[in-house]
Formats: sequence, C-alpha cells, structure tokens
Amino acid sequence: MPKWLKDAVFYEIYPQSFYDTNGDGIGDFNGIIEKLDYIKELGCNALWINPCFDSPFHDAGYDVRDYKKVAPRYGTNNDLYRLFGEAHLRGIHVLLDLVPGHTSEEHEWFLESQKAEKNEYSNRYIWTNAVFQPAKGFLYIGGEAERDGVYVLNFFKSQPALNYGFLDPQEDWQLPMDHPDCVATREAMKDVMRFWLDHGCDGFRVDMAESLVKNDDEKRTGTCAIWREVREMLDKEYPDAAMVSEWNAPAKAINQGGFHMDFYLNWGGNGYNSLMRDYDTGEDNSYFKKDGKGDITRFLNEYLPRYEATKENGYYCLITCNHDTIRPKFNLDDSELKIAYAFIFTMPGVPFLYYGDEIGMRYLDVKTKEGGYHRTGSRTPMQWNTEKNAGFSTCPADALYLPVDTSPDAPNVAAQETEKDSLFNTVKELIALRHREEDLQADADFEAVYAEVGKHPFVYRRGGILVALNPTTETVTAPVSADGWKVIFSIGSGKAEDGTITLAPQSCIVLK
Ligand code: NOJ
Repeated sequence: MPKWLKDAVFYEIYPQSFYDTNGDGIGDFNGIIEKLDYIKELGCNALWINPCFDSPFHDAGYDVRDYKKVAPRYGTNNDLYRLFGEAHLRGIHVLLDLVPGHTSEEHEWFLESQKAEKNEYSNRYIWTNAVFQPAKGFLYIGGEAERDGVYVLNFFKSQPALNYGFLDPQEDWQLPMDHPDCVATREAMKDVMRFWLDHGCDGFRVDMAESLVKNDDEKRTGTCAIWREVREMLDKEYPDAAMVSEWNAPAKAINQGGFHMDFYLNWGGNGYNSLMRDYDTGEDNSYFKKDGKGDITRFLNEYLPRYEATKENGYYCLITCNHDTIRPKFNLDDSELKIAYAFIFTMPGVPFLYYGDEIGMRYLDVKTKEGGYHRTGSRTPMQWNTEKNAGFSTCPADALYLPVDTSPDAPNVAAQETEKDSLFNTVKELIALRHREEDLQADADFEAVYAEVGKHPFVYRRGGILVALNPTTETVTAPVSADGWKVIFSIGSGKAEDGTITLAPQSCIVLK
C-alpha cells in the first residue's frame, strides 16, 4: 500500500474547465501548473486529472486515440511531465485517468483491427466471424468496417471494447482469456501504465474497471485476475503508485482485484445517493438537507458491511461529486454543504473533492458537449474571480469550451478566500484538521456511536476522536458521554455535558 494515501486528499480536475492560460477558451496543463499553489493552499495533496490524451472527444476524452500522447489542446507531453515535477515539488501526487476497457474508433489499433487482412491487431477488439453473425448479448456495430464481422462496444458507439477474452467462451468468436492475443491486450495496457509512471505520474483512476473480461461471472473472476496481475507489477516495479477503481464494489475491486481504493459512486437509491441527492424518488429525504427528514442508517446499512469487509486491504472512498454526477450544490445550500463536507472529510478512506465544489459551484443547465449530455452541467469553467469569464479565460465568451455561470451571485474563489465563514474556508479548515489529526485520516477505525433511524444527531468515532453532526435546523441531543473531551473543531456550536452531546442547528463538533 503506498504510504502517502494515508493522508491523501484528492482534487479532481476536469482539464477542459480548470484554467486556460493561452486564451483559446479551454483549460490547459500550464493552467493546472499555475493553480498548483491554490490547490496546495486548499490542503489537497493529490490530483486526479480526467483523460487528457489525444482523442476525437466523442466522450470528453474517454475515447482515447493515442494512450501515449496528450491532446494538443492541453499542451504537450513535456508540459504534462513538467506538471508532474511541479506538483511533486509541492508534495502533490498526480493520478491520470486510465481507460482500459475501450479506445476510440480512431485508435490505430482499431484502424488495423478493422482491416479485412489479418494482422497483429485483428483480435485486439472483439469481432464476430461474419457481419451477419450478431454478437448476441452485447452492443455491437456492423456494416462500418472493411472486415467481415461485427465488433462489440463498451460504452458509446465511438468506443469499441478491447479484447481481454471471455471467462467461459460460448461462441466460436469468443476467445479465452489466455489466448495470446488477449494476453497481448493486457500487456499493451501495462505498457501504457509503465510509460506514464516512468514519466513521473503517480498512478491511475481506472475507468470502468469492471468491464475488461466479457461473460465474467458474478464474482468478476476474470477481470479481478487481470487487476491482480497489474497490482503485482506495481508492487514490484512501482510500489508508490496508487490505483483507484471506478467500480463501487470494494469487495471485488479491493479484496479480489487488488485496487488500493474504490469509489463509492452515486447510484440512484444507494447509500451514497441518500446523503445529498435523494431527489429522484419524488420525495427528497437527503440526509444533509436541513429539513431533517433524512436517515443516516440508509447510508450506514450499505456502507458499514462494505467498509468492514475491505478496510484491511484498501479504501472505500467518498467523493463530493465527479464529472458524471450532478453537483451537490444543485440540492444543498452552502450551510447544508458545510455539514456534508464535514462528514466527507472526517470519514475513513481517501476523500475526493471535485473542482469547484469547494466554493459551491452550481450545476448549470447547458447544452450537451462532447458526449456529456446531462453531465455537462457539472463540467463548466472554474469560477476564480469576477473578471472576464470568471477569470477562467481571456477569450471572447462565445469561444469558451462551456459557458461560465454568469448569474450575479455565482460563487468565486477570490471572494470566498477573503470571507471568513465561506464554504471555501470551511473546506480548507476541514482538510487542515484532517492533516493535523491522524485519527481522522484514511486508516483510523470507524464506529457509529449514535445513529438512530430518522433521528439526529449522528455521532461517530474515528480512533480516539468523536464527530457529531446535526444537519437540521433544530437543536438536537444524543445520549453520548464525552464529558471532559475537548472540542477541537466546530461549525456552529455544540457541547458534551452530563452524558449528553448537544448540537445547535446546522452544527458539527469534533471532540478529542
Ligand atoms: C466512466 C466515465 O467516468 C465517464 O465519463 C465515461 O463516459 C464512461 N466511463 C465511458 O468511458
């Protein structure tokens, strides 16, 4: 396990929208470099950068055309190497986004694979033996290639699935995992990883980590075997490199696949969803809404068994949001967000902050861009100040990659930095607290001390620290004895007296 993860706090950057230094309307590597001091100041010591590789951008870069070359719109490979170096100088680790399940249909491997004549890449993707032989059970495309066959997709039409083989081949076109051409796919992906790790990157967020082996079983035996092999490579060659999976199944990803971390993703109706985004059900009972209708056991009932089952091997990670998810500000105001973030930054595992959530950037109602659809509203330019284009870019507004939030009360970094009780400063204090207190970091154990169905507050223990949260507008109490403990952090106010913890409305206290 890379030791640095223990106290890591990640900042996710959607490179298109972070900071534009050459006035072309889209963010760039130099922009990220210029803002590294900002990220450090905020307290984040690790980055995850969304795909920044050469791509036709039919899915915002998740359709990679060349794994070893960056997209010119962000700069050059050398700029990215410089970013690694500058980040390291500031104690910041950098994860890139690895997309191992599919490439762009414009990737050279695919262009070769679709040729009628057999070649080294013929089996790099999954093809049937004739165009009128369907790939039953899969999304597939026929009639586009020179080759007589249909090919399997992994996501959008532009993203053909790479061939890692089938766990239990059923048809003549399905190759077993140990077929030399499937092994070659695996080796090609390891080669990509080595390329970036050798140039100074510190690991990868892995896209659709579950999607490699087809017809895999319920336990994902085939896919996990591949990831374990990758972990062995890392342990041997790059012991400090870290991997986080987009999977949301930590028992598989961490225990079986050897990932260091797995994301707790926002899936409709799940435990994470019940915290901040419970609005798709008709009635919003999000736990962090101040109306107090939420119920923390909806989260705990799902989280606890997963946490217990995986805590010895890795980290099940909480996020404020990501580039696929509606921003939390869509549903929570700043006073609610403060309590929600107090929770996220005091929980076990490694927290991930999505750019702009530290100032409560809004989800915007904008037109789809590069395959974003409803996700596009969470991908708009970072709001730095009140200057042109919110300080994101000097280009004309109509040349921006995506529009900026132009509403008069749009939050921005410059204003919140100077405002003592701003969301930004609360996030900064919370992250600083986490860095100060080992018991609030990734490893210290977690126990729910007071968590009653539909009741408030929620009190939990991290190692030798107690955290008490009251998201509601009422004063609430819990029969938890912490008399004599010192309040080392607070939002709002609270106290521990006479065997009771009392919290004022919308408050959080941390006791030691
Ligand atoms: C998950 C990524 O987060 C998402 O943005 C992308 O569209 C799909 N995987 C396909 O790569």
